[in-house]
Amino acid sequence: MSDQNNAVPKSSLHEKIETSNFLLIALTLFVLTIGGLVEIVPLFFQKSTTEAVAGLKPYTPLQLMGRDVYLREGCYNCHSQMIRPFRAETMRYGHYSVAGEFVYDHPFQWGSKRTGPDLHRVGGKYSDEWHRIHLNNPRDLVPESNMPAYPWLEATKVDDSAVATRMSALRKVGVPYTDAEIAGAQAEVKDKTEMEAVISYLQVLGRAVK
Ligand code: HEC
Repeated sequence: MSDQNNAVPKSSLHEKIETSNFLLIALTLFVLTIGGLVEIVPLFFQKSTTEAVAGLKPYTPLQLMGRDVYLREGCYNCHSQMIRPFRAETMRYGHYSVAGEFVYDHPFQWGSKRTGPDLHRVGGKYSDEWHRIHLNNPRDLVPESNMPAYPWLEATKVDDSAVATRMSALRKVGVPYTDAEIAGAQAEVKDKTEMEAVISYLQVLGRAVK
């Protein structure tokens, strides 16, 4: 091949784009946008990612308040709620997590850090009493545990004035609470402790899928 064939003609389109900051940035963004649209937009319309799995129920008022305690105490810093579809995970935790199990979670608690085990299918694994002792002081049941103790949960009442507004807010983003459920919510959590709330939340986790 001669040098002449390899030489890029001075005014080629390629050269124009590569030597213009503006053109290069604009066209790169254009290409990324198409890639993004093709990958992301279909997820908003696929039934498998937008519809609840059969058997999934919205959280009861007590479970919902327990979930708030879970967020406040930062349990997600050590516990994920997302079982990946790998053999080692499904043998340890049970059926892998599917998108339709999280449609009533705003926001979902998938997490990414596992100092402790994944909790997505912990519902029904232990008795309420086990959780009560464990949350009061994990070392009473698991001597080598480095999970913090949460003794104040048992001594603190759920803030019952907050639950109805939470449920109305969740309804706005698609959780199917009825007016009657919202109206009765405060009475349902009245005088319950935060310990009872967080346990009822833990006990329902991951039970929509067998
Ligand atoms: C500093 C990290 C850390 C934090 C924060 C933490 N945990 Fe844990 N958790 C662990 C570890 C480690 C274990 C495993 C040892 C044990 O069972 O105590 C565990 C175990 C558990 C288990 C038993 C899981 C199983 O399948 O045996 C439950 C339930 C649990 N944690 C709930 C909670 C809740 C609820 C909170 C928040 C109130 C919380 N954890 C906060 C580290 C943590």
